[in-house]
Amino acid sequence: MKSVNIGIIGGGLMGREMASAFARWCALTDVSVRPVLTAVADLNPATLSWFDCIPSCTQKTTDYKALLANPDVDVVYVAVPHNLHEQLYCDVLAAGKDLFAEKPFGIDLASARRIHAAAKASGRFVRCSSEMPFFPGAQRAFELAKSGSIGRILEVVSGFHHSSDLDPTKAANWKRLNSMCGEGGALNDLGMHACHIPLRLGWKPARVFAQLQKGYPQRPDGKGGVTNCDTWDNALLNTWIKVGGHEVPMRLEMKRLMPGATNTWYIEILGTDGGVRYSTADTKALWLFERGKEQFWKRTDLGFSTPFKTVTGGIFEPGFADVIQQMWAAYLMERAGLLSGRFGCATPDEAVATHEIFAAALQSQAQGPVVSLYNSHAQNSSPRHSCRRQFHRRLRQGHRWLPCPGHAREHPERVALQWRRPL
Ligand SMILES: NC(=O)c1ccc[n+]([C@@H]2O[C@H](COP(=O)([O-])OP(=O)(O)OC[C@H]3O[C@@H](n4cnc5c(N)ncnc54)[C@H](O)[C@@H]3O)[C@@H](O)[C@H]2O)c1
Repeated sequence: MKSVNIGIIGGGLMGREMASAFARWCALTDVSVRPVLTAVADLNPATLSWFDCIPSCTQKTTDYKALLANPDVDVVYVAVPHNLHEQLYCDVLAAGKDLFAEKPFGIDLASARRIHAAAKASGRFVRCSSEMPFFPGAQRAFELAKSGSIGRILEVVSGFHHSSDLDPTKAANWKRLNSMCGEGGALNDLGMHACHIPLRLGWKPARVFAQLQKGYPQRPDGKGGVTNCDTWDNALLNTWIKVGGHEVPMRLEMKRLMPGATNTWYIEILGTDGGVRYSTADTKALWLFERGKEQFWKRTDLGFSTPFKTVTGGIFEPGFADVIQQMWAAYLMERAGLLSGRFGCATPDEAVATHEIFAAALQSQAQGPVVSLYNSHAQNSSPRHSCRRQFHRRLRQGHRWLPCPGHAREHPERVALQWRRPL
């Protein structure tokens, strides 16, 4: 089995989760690449000391640049607050390493686009963390939707709920501050989870109406005082997608204030001929709709039918730690060119698309209207749309047709055309 040396920057909640997934890699039976945790960087020495339990992890440093200078590290996973994503991701790429980024892939849309451009320019293998689609129930929902057997899609709901913010005495952390989590708040925090499968199915919203809510404006700061919390906690996005030529309503829900929910990811896809519902709140249960003379919602208990096979018995139930490991298997196998049609991790294009949705949602919340993703502030700064703006401005000024240079690159057949100044 081929080994890939991994460095982790940010050894907090997710850094340790990933390290523990590597530590039980022997569970996987049809993966031919093995991650070896080689180095970890975190500002906090106490956090670094947890990694003493992993013998292969020989470099523990408070300076992430020292990790990037380590020639033994092949792939770097970065799990730090969102305000640091752009700098650290770009530094990883500049150091010539492959990158496994955490969501939301930059603090906002502009940042995500710069990371995307750096990734493209570097030629490195870059993916973004999003583990929920690796649950067997999520995989079945995805395959069903892709197969067309659901008929004409009538409605889609995809969401992620927890209730971490319901307790007003819980101390604030960086995820409650716009300056570190990003203005998107719950969108940045949970949005990739809700958007990943719809985007993979090609269901990118064309229009968005958002209802965003804040929670408690102040919380204990964990040091005896209080601190202001300014992020959006709940986000309800009513969107339109186009499936098979039909407009379909799709609701994306991201909530940190959902009474009773711990870490619930779910998807529901309803069609004229069938339907599917899956929620991690009932990990094994897959619900399928069957239309006949009578109509049924049938429930089946899924076993451990993960995309990558394991030693775990087929009747057992998978959990968060399992799908994290599955996601890493997908990352490493795709990097090695061995994915073989299995579900791959979120791509930089998909990560940028989530930010386009979030930016449209923020615009909708601020100004009230339904925002078109193809004619919004969120989109206006894209090369394609600035090109279109420039085109219309020049037409108004009386110039005659020519594509701007970027457009000309995309449409070489039109290169002969030139802008002519008005007489
Ligand atoms: N995929 C998921 O399900 C999931 C779940 C939670 C968080 N996340 C994402 O993971 C990322 C990290 O979240 P978390 O919950 O692990 O946060 P965390 O606060 O638990 O950990 C962040 C760690 O980064 C370290 N750090 C900060 N600045 C650093 C620097 N300059 N150099 C090195 N280390 C530094 C901190 O000391 C801390 O240990 C975020 O992008 C978040 O959105 C993903």
